[in-house]
Amino acid sequence: MAHILERRRLVPNIHLIRIHAPEVARRCRPGQFIMVMADPDGERIPLSIADWDAAEGSVSAVFLLVGTSTQKLARLKAGDALAACAGPLGRPSEIAAFGTVLLVAGCYGIGALYPAARALRAAGNRLLLLADVKAGHLFYWQERFRELCDRVMTAERDLGGMSQEFASRTVAGVAAGEKRIDRVMVSGCAYLLASVSEATRPLGLRTIVSLNPVMVDGTGMCGACRCSIGGKTRFACVDGPDFDGHQVDWPELFRRRAAYLDDEIRSLCWWERETLP
Ligand SMILES: Cc1cc2nc3c(=O)[nH]c(=O)nc-3n(C[C@H](O)[C@H](O)[C@H](O)COP(=O)(O)OP(=O)(O)OC[C@H]3O[C@@H](n4cnc5c(N)ncnc54)[C@H](O)[C@@H]3O)c2cc1C
Ligand code: FES
Repeated sequence: MAHILERRRLVPNIHLIRIHAPEVARRCRPGQFIMVMADPDGERIPLSIADWDAAEGSVSAVFLLVGTSTQKLARLKAGDALAACAGPLGRPSEIAAFGTVLLVAGCYGIGALYPAARALRAAGNRLLLLADVKAGHLFYWQERFRELCDRVMTAERDLGGMSQEFASRTVAGVAAGEKRIDRVMVSGCAYLLASVSEATRPLGLRTIVSLNPVMVDGTGMCGACRCSIGGKTRFACVDGPDFDGHQVDWPELFRRRAAYLDDEIRSLCWWERETLP
């Protein structure tokens, strides 16, 4: 059991959850994740650690509402308990003085990249952030990133007609305007990871993606998160989640992520019928 200290909506479909988990908070590093279970009948799902406070013994995650488990998490409030919270899991992101690092983040990835941004800044890097958001008001934690980054940019698809840019198209423009980019780090939905990797490949920019295959145990035992990286089988939970985006077999990742789609839709329909007024 892990108690919830805070759960609040950041923007319409994205929530923050702060959990009392002192063992996790003491040991976690940028790029790692936790496995959480909203209730005893639910499934374990992975969430990236977006922040932590070792003194308070808390870890925070930012999550996007997609299916039953994330809807259940969004119903919890301070004082409630999670059925389980395990971590920190996964290998930490590589942090060093690379030079100029372009961070590309969308939806939950904006929060998920924050610890790496903080550590990269402390290591002396010049930081650029490109936030991939449907509209400006969906860009949460802007002030946190403006404190750390030398440039903060958005690729918005605002229906108001301000811009129709996807991050992958904008990346080439950003690179053209910069003397040098030494590394790109991407976090968010699988489409963003894959499309940015394809955009940086011809530019020869080393691109690290935080991979998000389906995970069940998060410890390398179940095989659910198997993916192919440079033609070799890897388990994202113990070998990643960070990988070279130019080495990932993206079609396989998309196929495996969609493997339970029918069951996931059925589960959400059932849960909504049972719980919504
Ligand atoms: C290392 C890692 C870190 C992640 N960090 C975050 C995060 O910080 N915030 C966030 O919102 N999301 C994160 N995700 C994705 C998150 O785990 C899924 O959105 C969540 O499991 C969906 O559960 P659901 O029941 O709400 O949706 P479902 O209806 O069950 O699934 C919707 C889609 O989410 C994906 N998914 C489903 N179950 C899992 C699972 N057990 N593991 C991974 N993907 C799954 C599948 O593509 C699926 O088609 C992360 C995934 C990984 C692997
Ligand atoms: S989640 Fe089970 S092996 Fe990675």
